[in-house]
Amino acid sequence: VGLPSQLQEHTALDVLMEGLKRLEYRGYDSAGVAVVANGEVQHRKKAGKLANLSSELEQHPVDKASVGIGHTRWATHGGPTDVNAHPHLADDDQLSLIHNGIIENYATLKQELLADGVTFRSETDTEVAAALLAKIYRTTGNQDLTRSMQLASQRLEGAFTLLAVHADHPGMVVASRRNSPLVVGLGEGENFLGSDVSGFIDFTRDAIELAQDQVVTITPDSVEITDFMGNPAEGKQFTVDWDASAAEKDGYDTFMEKEIHDQPHAVADTLLGRTDAAGQLILDELRIDPEELKSITKIIVLACGTSAYAGMVAKYAIEHWCRIPVEVELSHEFRYRDPIIDPNTLVVSISQSGETMDTLMAVRYAKEQGARTVSICNTNGSTIPRESDAVLYTHAGPEIAVASTKAFLAQITAAYLLGLYLAQLNKKLYSQAIKDILAQLAEIPAKIQTVLDQADQVKELARSMKDTGSVLFLGRNVGYPVALEGALKLKELAYIHAEGFAAGELKHGPIALIDEGQPVFVVVPSPMDRHSLHAKVVSNIQEVRARGAKTIVVAEQGDEDVKQYAETTFYVPETLPMLMPLLTTVPLQIFALELASAKGYDVDQPRNLAKSVTVE
Ligand code: G6P
Repeated sequence: VGLPSQLQEHTALDVLMEGLKRLEYRGYDSAGVAVVANGEVQHRKKAGKLANLSSELEQHPVDKASVGIGHTRWATHGGPTDVNAHPHLADDDQLSLIHNGIIENYATLKQELLADGVTFRSETDTEVAAALLAKIYRTTGNQDLTRSMQLASQRLEGAFTLLAVHADHPGMVVASRRNSPLVVGLGEGENFLGSDVSGFIDFTRDAIELAQDQVVTITPDSVEITDFMGNPAEGKQFTVDWDASAAEKDGYDTFMEKEIHDQPHAVADTLLGRTDAAGQLILDELRIDPEELKSITKIIVLACGTSAYAGMVAKYAIEHWCRIPVEVELSHEFRYRDPIIDPNTLVVSISQSGETMDTLMAVRYAKEQGARTVSICNTNGSTIPRESDAVLYTHAGPEIAVASTKAFLAQITAAYLLGLYLAQLNKKLYSQAIKDILAQLAEIPAKIQTVLDQADQVKELARSMKDTGSVLFLGRNVGYPVALEGALKLKELAYIHAEGFAAGELKHGPIALIDEGQPVFVVVPSPMDRHSLHAKVVSNIQEVRARGAKTIVVAEQGDEDVKQYAETTFYVPETLPMLMPLLTTVPLQIFALELASAKGYDVDQPRNLAKSVTVE
């Protein structure tokens, strides 16, 4: 991760452990480091969370060094064991390598290396890459680590970020990337590499984003970038607009709690600076010619996980305001179904990290098919916005807890802005109507704060439901994705079986799940909803209550009518029916957080998950 020179007070290990702590949210089933000290590579690695590696280092310290690499893993090939943890060694343990991604042709390469007499200690694809690099280093690479990395990268298929150090070259780290993320951090007398900037945010905010298929070699005072053929190349320099303190817990017990409380800011900052003096929306990051945007006849929204639920809200809003048909699809399904795309299709990807491999591949595919691509993203310098024609950044700040909260609300906010902008361009809404909606949006941050201030009732209920085995969530229209997100939060954080349904679909099957005492959350539409969905949802509540369900309702302040049908009612402030997800989601997040905490679970790093899934 880092490369401090002897000039610095911190050692390579300090940088590595600090960086790994910040990057641990990306994967946490094992971790390891290697440093180059006294002419040799010294490495330590351990299954389990980073704390295990720390105690291993206390028991078996490494020598003081100014060069090192470190890794925290989310297992793909080979289980989470000490042996399978990175780094992996080769060349008589003089070469050490870490890897993020999946090397798809590793089996073929392994056969080739086995035939050469190489022996392997782990089941990982990474060790194959290490052995290949070592072989090239000793043969065609002429013991030039950079050249060897270029040659090795040419032979690898799939997705990879590789970082290598060698005892022969104590002052350098060589890295390579294809499809997986890698950024360079620029320090004074020291340079860094990381999967994202949080890996080195304690040391510098100046960074370089790399393009696809590049190799970078860092020393304390140089950064050299080439393509895989060895031709000189350049990256794009940028400054991170947040500092290390934004990635701290700020007095909260967990990142998740902090991030839920950050939501008024996340929404406010995403709205900031998007209008001109006349109140016209100006999305100037949207670098697609407005004339081209006017000719869009279809929109496809692509995302995974929580971001896909933000995409569903986007569909309701954009279709309603702009009258452009919108499809929403999980990125990994989209790409392999032969979708119909033409130059008048606008593909909007939504990704907090900007690195989700499924979404990246789907965006690339859409581009190849001729679509215009816009990325809604929370991470500056990440791959998906860089490869898209345009980007609309959400300004939620770094999101560390694995399960998404504030990024979700910021994504929905950005989707509304995009919808209103397209409506403005195509004159589908009067400018006064757009201004009115923007005025309502501007009031949302304070209203989220109101919901946060009233969280005690939600928390109390969550604690009382600690031993619940199953929870259902119902919603209609924009309340439907909120129900899905409420269920997902509970699965992710509390490992409780939870399902979200469109309330109208219940009678077509899921109602069979209801028996005495089954908790059912219902996201109730505003009584002002133009389709009178309120009455329909009230009927749905009665249907489940008649079968013994215990109903917990999230409704709009003033909706007294619904109270009589609920065991518990949580109110959120009034807003436009279309904007309600920005408020109704919040009690569901708090519920999942509190329930998981009551069970004693680690809400920031739930089991089996990773925040940024950079494999397909
Ligand atoms: C992972 C995370 C989810 C997230 C999803 C999409 O599965 O655990 O919380 O919603 O990826 O991530 P993205 O960065 O593309 O929004």
